[in-house]
Amino acid sequence: MSNGDRPQAQPEKNAAPAGDAPRSESGQVDHGRRDFMRKGVSGLTIISLSGPMVGKVSRDDDFEVVHKTVRINNLPKRVEGFRIAMISDIHSGPYMDKKDIDPYVTRMNKLKPDAIVLPGDFIQNRNEEVEAVADALQKLEAPYGVYGSTGNHDYFADADYVSKELGHAGVRMLRNEHIVLDVDGAPLALIGLDDVRSGHPFDNLFRSAVDGLDARIPNVVLCHKPYYLEEASEWGVDLMVSGHTHGGQIVIARVFDTVITPAALISGYIEGLYRLDGTQLYVTRGIGTVGIPVRINCPPEITVLTLESA
Ligand SMILES: [Fe+2]
Repeated sequence: MSNGDRPQAQPEKNAAPAGDAPRSESGQVDHGRRDFMRKGVSGLTIISLSGPMVGKVSRDDDFEVVHKTVRINNLPKRVEGFRIAMISDIHSGPYMDKKDIDPYVTRMNKLKPDAIVLPGDFIQNRNEEVEAVADALQKLEAPYGVYGSTGNHDYFADADYVSKELGHAGVRMLRNEHIVLDVDGAPLALIGLDDVRSGHPFDNLFRSAVDGLDARIPNVVLCHKPYYLEEASEWGVDLMVSGHTHGGQIVIARVFDTVITPAALISGYIEGLYRLDGTQLYVTRGIGTVGIPVRINCPPEITVLTLESA
């Protein structure tokens, strides 16, 4: 796939920011995301803007499974209904041990996805932290495989070592490369990018990853940071899956489509599905934490994306 193989997307006024540095513009939110927002707050303490600043801290076993249908143009009939389960931002470390990760693995296996994707931040910042997460993830099961990409925290240690250990545990790390799945005779490409913390800009990573890939094959891109929707659209990406934001981790309130969180000062991409022309971006809240080990009004998420034809 090359940058010129597909019609160039016309960026919208509120298109995604470019480059590594997060920006404050928002991508377009679809109606499904609005539905998800409503679903996402069920069972949680909701803080009105005028109400007391009190929230519920989610417990370790208090996570949500978010089901989302993603409609992709020209998806082959045989790929329709293909289900991809995802968790991100595991952050194995002092506050996330194997016993904390195991319930997610058990639940994901029960969901019986066709494939599993893990877009980065497997560890907090030390090589030895990969042992717990690799131990847990080796039990993941999906007939089309388990795939990962690196996140910025994986580069706080030795990302090559972390990736190698995950590989031994059955996680096929896609490091600026792609794989074409054969779904009942129809192709579906998974493209994995290293985090830009690796020292390379998005376009260079993407160019390497799609070398030799037929641009007509529908594609799903694993990219840890969600800041590259505009570039992804220009490359003709169908669906990009990201984490990194932790859904804000500390959410003060949710008002219709808007998540009120300090993280929104950094980026408009917080959680859920965004679209720019023919490209969609799903941002999962992840399961781990950084900084203080709590989530407020922001439960960990297992995502199940079902691909359908647009
Ligand atoms: Fe993270």
